[in-house]
Amino acid sequence: MSLELELQRFPKEIKLKDATRVTLRPLEKADEKIFHEFFLAIPEPERMFIKHRVTDVAVIRDWCQDMDLGRNLPLLAVAGGKIIAAATLHQQLGGWRRHIGRVSVLAHPQFRGRGLAKALVTEILAIARSVGLEQVEAEFIGEQEAAIKMFALLGFSNLLRLDNYVKDMQAISHDYVLMGLNLKVDEEYAGVGG
Ligand SMILES: CC(C)(COP(=O)(O)OP(=O)(O)OC[C@H]1O[C@@H](n2cnc3c(N)ncnc32)[C@H](O)[C@@H]1OP(=O)(O)O)[C@@H](O)C(=O)NCCC(=O)NCCS
Repeated sequence: MSLELELQRFPKEIKLKDATRVTLRPLEKADEKIFHEFFLAIPEPERMFIKHRVTDVAVIRDWCQDMDLGRNLPLLAVAGGKIIAAATLHQQLGGWRRHIGRVSVLAHPQFRGRGLAKALVTEILAIARSVGLEQVEAEFIGEQEAAIKMFALLGFSNLLRLDNYVKDMQAISHDYVLMGLNLKVDEEYAGVGG
């Protein structure tokens, strides 16, 4: 299925464990301010592991203005006019990694533990399947234990762990963890299970 068709499922309303109503939808051009505010709410120690300088409004402006959802699809959870979580599907669209997507996810600290990240990543996996991706990866530093646990619950397994392989903004080394999910195998299991 084309991405365009798949995205017609959004906006989608979901209800969290605590009954909060949340809208899931892709990033839009007009989201520049609330997307920047979302990143400013992330504690500094966690922000050090985001690959881009997200406190710089110009970075967020570029993302909103030069959107290419086929390459980077940020799916947002929005409540009360605020972004409370985001998951992104990254695709290569060519070359030897063209069948492998990468997913990243981040939840606003005040809205964690309510099933937001799980809901967003589940949607991203559905999108990945419907656009024909065969594998999805997620990258972590060793300390991101909550995230590693969550991805394992969603069926991801550890592909690789390299000790002291990556460095944060303060040049401190951390373990690198790569997890992956084979969407084809996963689909077959789903079929067997009914
Ligand atoms: C990891 C993160 C995205 C989880 O977001 P969240 O919305 O709180 O996660 P959910 O509520 O959907 O949790 C789903 C499951 O993950 C597990 N989990 C989530 N947070 C956890 C924690 N702090 N400790 C242990 N398990 C945790 C739980 O099993 C949970 O299921 P349950 O509540 O039914 O038991 C959030 O803590 C975050 O933004 N962390 C910083 C960024 C990050 O590490 N991103 C990952 C890199 S791709």
